[in-house]
Amino acid sequence: MEDFVYYTPTKVVFGRGSELQVGSLVAARGCKKVLIHYGGGSARRSGLLERIGRSLDEAGIAHVELGGVVPNPRLSLVYKGIELAKAEGVDFILAVGGGSVIDSAKAIGYGVANDFDVWELYDFKRKATGCLPIGAVLTIAAAGSEMSQSSVITNENGWIKRGYGSEYCRPAFAILNPELTMTLPPYQTSCGCTDILMHTMERYFNRTGSMELTDGIAEALMRTVIRNALILMEQPDNYEARAEVMWAGSLSHNGLTGCGTDGGDWATHKLEHELGGMFDVAHGAGLAAVWGSWARYVCDADPARFARFAVKVLDVSPAANDHETALAGIAAMEDFYRSIQMPTSLRELGIAPTEAQIEELAAKCAVAVKGTAGVVKPLKQADLAAIYRMAL
Ligand code: NZQ
Ligand code: ZN
Repeated sequence: MEDFVYYTPTKVVFGRGSELQVGSLVAARGCKKVLIHYGGGSARRSGLLERIGRSLDEAGIAHVELGGVVPNPRLSLVYKGIELAKAEGVDFILAVGGGSVIDSAKAIGYGVANDFDVWELYDFKRKATGCLPIGAVLTIAAAGSEMSQSSVITNENGWIKRGYGSEYCRPAFAILNPELTMTLPPYQTSCGCTDILMHTMERYFNRTGSMELTDGIAEALMRTVIRNALILMEQPDNYEARAEVMWAGSLSHNGLTGCGTDGGDWATHKLEHELGGMFDVAHGAGLAAVWGSWARYVCDADPARFARFAVKVLDVSPAANDHETALAGIAAMEDFYRSIQMPTSLRELGIAPTEAQIEELAAKCAVAVKGTAGVVKPLKQADLAAIYRMAL
């Protein structure tokens, strides 16, 4: 087992009606003025924003609003949020939404707390020295940003999607009410379940060797998400299934399933981020579209690990050798994705990159990973292009 630091400072308030505690949670931190940040309208339509405003009023907390965050959140709105937060003297940012809203809130928090162009963080030029405190009222179980140390922003100038991570941006609290996710379109529910699975799979496929407890937690989490994702296809209002998936989403990306490992592979995420930047696809769907191709490209570097995944997570019967079991597991995973209406190729994702675009995706990805992606089989630019081609 590798040495590790496990740091999860986020206070989790889980359950029905938990959003009504938002005022007292902000007040307990001694903050006085909140920027409420939200997306394209679902939080207003559901009445959530109104309930949150009332809770803040009751706690005597002033607030201003900035909506309009889109999936693959844009740098231009981050700049707008930084200006607004500075002009209004905001001392807390409350993200009401999913990963896109939380990530945009984190970027605004960095922009207020650091005296330089915030994009320089995402462009590897600077490191943050602070961030305004963030709180999250989560409306989609997916990205895990409500407990993670990362934020992913898309710069419209060149359509570059990049992540930046630091402990400063981990939310102070996360309000997780599974009922808030019941208004999600089924496609978004499935994208979310895919992303949750992938956050644990990226960590599970590593080169560390045996980690009994971490592997056991990861396998239980993945089986739980698969089982409940299937339930939600039939019963979108099933509270227990929503709750299992929501808690899995936070645990999947708060570091727990990576304790004692080398950190994991992450190549599938890097491949997807370029697709999100260039084609504006939903993150979870993009992951499902490329994962099988990544897995077939790298699995011979560690067939035993892929075979274990097949048997323990997908209930595949062991075949004659690890290689065969591994391939059966990859096929079973793709069957699962299809059963929750997720794509397993770029065409099914709705895009058909040209050869020139594939080269551009691979080149941008190689820059984002500083040369080599993943650890199972370290991938250079030519490998990344090959995987995009396999995924067509
Ligand atoms: O904008 P609204 O109207 O709210 O609609 C959103 C959006 O269209 C909708 N939605 C959310 N909650 C809803 C709802 N619709 C109805 N009812 C509700 N309760 O869902 C759509 C997707 O929302 P988004 O926030 O984009 O989803 P997600 O949480 O999947 O976030 C994706 C972003 O997070 C990044 C991804 O790259 C992507 O940009 N990631 C962030 C990570 C992190 N910070 O740790 C890690 C991840 O790997 C990921 O890269
Ligand atoms: Zn993700």
